[in-house]
Amino acid sequence: MIGQYHILEKIPEKKIRQQVRRLARIITQEYQSREPVLIGVLNGVFLFFADLVREISIPLKIDFVRVVSYGSQDVSSGKITLTKDIEVPIEGKPVIIIEDIVDTGLTLCHLVNHIKEKKPESVKICALISKLERREKEIQIDYWGFEIKEGFLVGYGLDYNEQFRYLPYILSLDMRDKS
Ligand code: IMP
Repeated sequence: MIGQYHILEKIPEKKIRQQVRRLARIITQEYQSREPVLIGVLNGVFLFFADLVREISIPLKIDFVRVVSYGSQDVSSGKITLTKDIEVPIEGKPVIIIEDIVDTGLTLCHLVNHIKEKKPESVKICALISKLERREKEIQIDYWGFEIKEGFLVGYGLDYNEQFRYLPYILSLDMRDKS
């Protein structure tokens, strides 16, 4: 139990670290001497982003966007609002969008179109978790850590009503408990 919620599954810190290191190794190899710009999608990505960039061993630049899509519900509203845009120039640069979790794919689809308007050299997507159950937009996730079928995950940046983001591990909550 955590608070009033039953826990269905747990992804421990060790497994998260392994995947973060693996993704960082791939990005390091693929972007040698290209100085990619990593764009993190706030707020959920904050821990993953910080851990990932520290494991990548080539020069890179960072920036963030803030996208609001969920409000206080556990289902996507389908309405995506960009409340913070990037500030570093990305024209002609290789960009990697860093996302915590891809669910319906609506957020990333919207974001990729927005980023492409700024004419980067390329745009790739790196997500810690790809959740397959509710995908609505076919979206190519170039680098991903965990693929899960269903469930609502919290911890390691992910929240439910702004709770649980601080946890160093990931939990799958039993949403039948939600009030
Ligand atoms: P999408 O637009 O449906 O792909 O949703 C993407 C965003 O929804 C993510 O960046 C998360 O902020 C949030 N989200 C989706 N699934 C979960 C989950 O299981 N736990 C917490 N947040 C989630």
